[in-house]
Amino acid sequence: MTKRVLIVGGGAREHALAWRFSREGAEVHAAPGNAGIAEVGAVHPVAADDLEGQVALAKRVGATLVVVGPEAPLVLGLVDALQAEGIAAFGPSKAAARLEGSKAFSKDFMARHGIPTAGYRVFDDADAASAYVRDAGRPLVIKADGLAAGKGVVVAKDADEALAAIDRFARDRELGDAGARLVVEETLVGEEVSFHVVADGTRYVALAPAQDHKRALEGDRGPNTGGMGAFSPPPVVSPALERAILEEIVEPTLRGCAAEGFPFRGALFVGLMITGEGADRKAQVLEYNTRFGDPETECLMTRWGGSALALFDGSAKGDLQGVETEWDAPASLCVVLASEGYPGAYPKGRAIEGLDRAAEVPGVTVFHAGTKRDGDRFVTAGGRVLTVTAVGATLREAADRAYAAADRIHFEGMHLRRDIGWRALG
Ligand code: AMP
Ligand code: GLY
Repeated sequence: MTKRVLIVGGGAREHALAWRFSREGAEVHAAPGNAGIAEVGAVHPVAADDLEGQVALAKRVGATLVVVGPEAPLVLGLVDALQAEGIAAFGPSKAAARLEGSKAFSKDFMARHGIPTAGYRVFDDADAASAYVRDAGRPLVIKADGLAAGKGVVVAKDADEALAAIDRFARDRELGDAGARLVVEETLVGEEVSFHVVADGTRYVALAPAQDHKRALEGDRGPNTGGMGAFSPPPVVSPALERAILEEIVEPTLRGCAAEGFPFRGALFVGLMITGEGADRKAQVLEYNTRFGDPETECLMTRWGGSALALFDGSAKGDLQGVETEWDAPASLCVVLASEGYPGAYPKGRAIEGLDRAAEVPGVTVFHAGTKRDGDRFVTAGGRVLTVTAVGATLREAADRAYAAADRIHFEGMHLRRDIGWRALG
């Protein structure tokens, strides 16, 4: 079993992984890490997308497993680079990470394998995309093909908004080369669900479904963010729907990857839209992510009852045989404490108070995202600052605990959503 783990990344997702691994007795390293991770392991100043630096670091610390958190290094091929040096690495190859790295690639892949998703067209030419939108006469979704840290999707309410998005992405190149190619797709209406599986190339372990809250403001209003909170499990996913998700989406995806020569290892996070009502409920794929979601991971890792090390190690080594799905906590919910102004520009360096008192609330773990140490205190250093996570016997209990803990924390300008879990809690 793996004992020395290097975690690539530095957000609350990576803190949740570091926390799990250290509780299971592993020696934890992280790069670049953050001030919370530094409490449970050693952090190293190497950027997540510095491939050479990460490989050198893995060798230097003698990592027996490297877990890659964010998408950018996966798309650049960090897992391939580590494996070429004989180092076990959790995450997909560069070829498999195209499922996240290119929206056109992932839509064409879904079409080839009959995986339910919104109808779409791919455009390399902005004029052709604009003409298509003008002729369509219905609201459409405009997506930049490449990685854009959540900023590359506009769900347009009318043609003008769609045309403006095409201008920004493809003509002004607001997101750089990510906007050179566009996907224009039909709008799906329903409830979003995050569904994660961990795969080893052939087998997979399904994790519990979760639900994220991407908008900055209560009632799912305001600009898109990296995620303002999450909970697990969402009641909209019935056992029958979960079976359908596995049989009609997850399994054909993994079979398709293998058949096309890039067997999938690592975390496959399928972003789903659940459309229809009651027995007519149906899951359609909004997007693939080839890594764990943030903040979903904070919920999943606090609920998970089995050995996380066995899960990550088994995936990296291509052998998940015998790894069981185990959930200790019936429910979990997390709320993100963000800086004033996030997801726009925000101040840094504001003193954070009340972390110790928050951690005293039963069932609560506070994960750090954007924090820094300043002498004997923590200060803010990012847009998303902390993820306050609680487990409970019920979702209601988890929510009450998470908010009781969040209310014990303070920094100037702190922003949080008060309605995480509203679809489930009413
Ligand atoms: P993506 O990065 O593709 O998941 O898109 C980001 C967000 O845009 C999703 O979480 C959805 O809220 C929304 N979205 C993406 N595609 C669609 C679609 N076809 N219909 C409605 N909303 C969408
Ligand atoms: N929580 C959504 C994401 O990680 O992309």
